[in-house]
Amino acid sequence: MAQVTLRHDTVLSDVHLLQPNGSHQMSRLNAVGQPVFIAKFKILRDAERHDNSVPEKGDTDNRTEKGDTETKAVGGQVQDVGPALDEDGDLDIVRRPEKQCPESVRLTVHPIILRQCSPLLKPEEENEDDGDNTCFKDTLRIEHTMATPLEDVGKQVWRGAFLLADFILSQPVMFRGATVLELGAGMGLASIMMATKAKKVYCTDVGEDLLKMCQRNVVLNNHLLEPGGGEVRVRQLDWQQQDLCTDADVEFSWTEEEVADIFDNINFIIAADVFYDDDLTDAFFRTLCRLYSYLPHGCVTYISTEKRMNFTVQHLDVSCEAYDHFRCCLSRLSHLVDGQISFSVEQLPSTFPQFLHYERIEQLELWKLTTTHPPFDQAHT
Ligand SMILES: C[S@@+](CC[C@H](N)C(=O)[O-])C[C@H]1O[C@@H](n2cnc3c(N)ncnc32)[C@H](O)[C@@H]1O
Repeated sequence: MAQVTLRHDTVLSDVHLLQPNGSHQMSRLNAVGQPVFIAKFKILRDAERHDNSVPEKGDTDNRTEKGDTETKAVGGQVQDVGPALDEDGDLDIVRRPEKQCPESVRLTVHPIILRQCSPLLKPEEENEDDGDNTCFKDTLRIEHTMATPLEDVGKQVWRGAFLLADFILSQPVMFRGATVLELGAGMGLASIMMATKAKKVYCTDVGEDLLKMCQRNVVLNNHLLEPGGGEVRVRQLDWQQQDLCTDADVEFSWTEEEVADIFDNINFIIAADVFYDDDLTDAFFRTLCRLYSYLPHGCVTYISTEKRMNFTVQHLDVSCEAYDHFRCCLSRLSHLVDGQISFSVEQLPSTFPQFLHYERIEQLELWKLTTTHPPFDQAHT
């Protein structure tokens, strides 16, 4: 019998798995023949937004969700009065009413190919071709692929990008007019959202076909960038290379002016969901330190990550090794005594409002790294 080989390294982002059917329109094949889908994410206005700093009604209910114990406030004090039972003595479980937010209901769907567009269609023509452009102005449109092997995970959108995008949108003043560098940008969602506030965003990743898809997403979302005049430049930045490529014959390479611009003017570095392989995590932190050492000024870095739990046969338990390695790198950085630069590391509460629909699970975290340079004379004594 022929040997069957199962590929176990294919991953599908929850973002695409949980998107309603209508968002799974296959638009074309990319440069390497992978089906490309287009997802639309509505940017919520004030009235539609979910405020994560306010507890949900029902979160403070007296009865627990399992219904196994009931508490009553008696004379201002909470007393445990034991489980609620029906007349036969069976547990009487009262379910908490479902939250009235139909759009955030968990829907697991499979991608459906709705149409095949011409691969030659330019992104701006696709905007015109959009059947439901009624809310087009507030809609972020991202081309992506579906389940990919690990080396292509950047061609999907990950929840960390949404958390970072929410944080960016909740801080319009902080990022106004800034120059920003994104590392491991994937399909460019966070960079595009950043450019609605910042002046210039260098959106970086590796791989020509990935960067081409990212570039198309920037063009597809021009309508979001035009009002503020923000600009996204898609460039190659490989954490496993020492230098930035400035060879003019290579697509997505840097000009000398751009290299000078990032070292002179960068205010913020951002990264979303880039910790899933320990070697790459090490390379990421080496890149960060190299960048910090070239900057003549302090810099703030925002990193979102998802603490993913896996059951491992090795431990016969649930572990989160990639996350633990990230925390270890963070800890090393905060204890690094460089003599020139000092680092501070803090986790930020994820209580800022939600501008995009996704599940903001508690495993999604946002970290802030601040570097400070001592005054010139202190550093040179
Ligand atoms: C899980 S994806 C996250 C993509 C995007 N930030 C998001 O949240 O949707 C990890 C990203 O890291 C990028 N990456 C992996 N190795 C890299 C390297 N050596 N240099 C630069 N980027 C790399 C991948 O190409 C991918 O885009």
